[in-house]
Amino acid sequence: MQKYEWQGIYELSVPELDGDHKTMLEIVNLVAQAAHAGNREKCNKELSRLLEFSLSHFSREEQLFDAWGYGEADVHRQHHAGIYQKALDNFRKLDTLPENETNARYCDEALAYFIDEVIGGDMKIKSFLIERGIATPKDGMMSVS
Ligand SMILES: [Fe+2]
Ligand SMILES: [Fe+2]
Repeated sequence: MQKYEWQGIYELSVPELDGDHKTMLEIVNLVAQAAHAGNREKCNKELSRLLEFSLSHFSREEQLFDAWGYGEADVHRQHHAGIYQKALDNFRKLDTLPENETNARYCDEALAYFIDEVIGGDMKIKSFLIERGIATPKDGMMSVS
């Protein structure tokens, strides 16, 4: 089974956020592993863990917005609430599908949640950090003024 690998494009150059995102991707891989094994119970358990972990991640990220004076903090908070609700609804629906339809869907939905957060939302933080000189795209170093 192929693993979803961490990509350079996911990197924000903010160690605590990158660490959280890596943990999210690890859980996505556990969902994929369980789906591959046809273990629906484990899939549901890992999806719950993904949602739970993402909530603590969102709160860490939002605290950094305040520390940075990030102007789009409210829009991003809404983004978090929106993708969480969407994922919650999608994950619940999965459990109602017949077994033969679910395995690939579990992987897709888990990965989609990760991508919605890291690419769909957090890339905007990256532009802000680079603009402000907090993160540099070249070497990934971060300085706090
Ligand atoms: Fe994030
Ligand atoms: Fe985010």
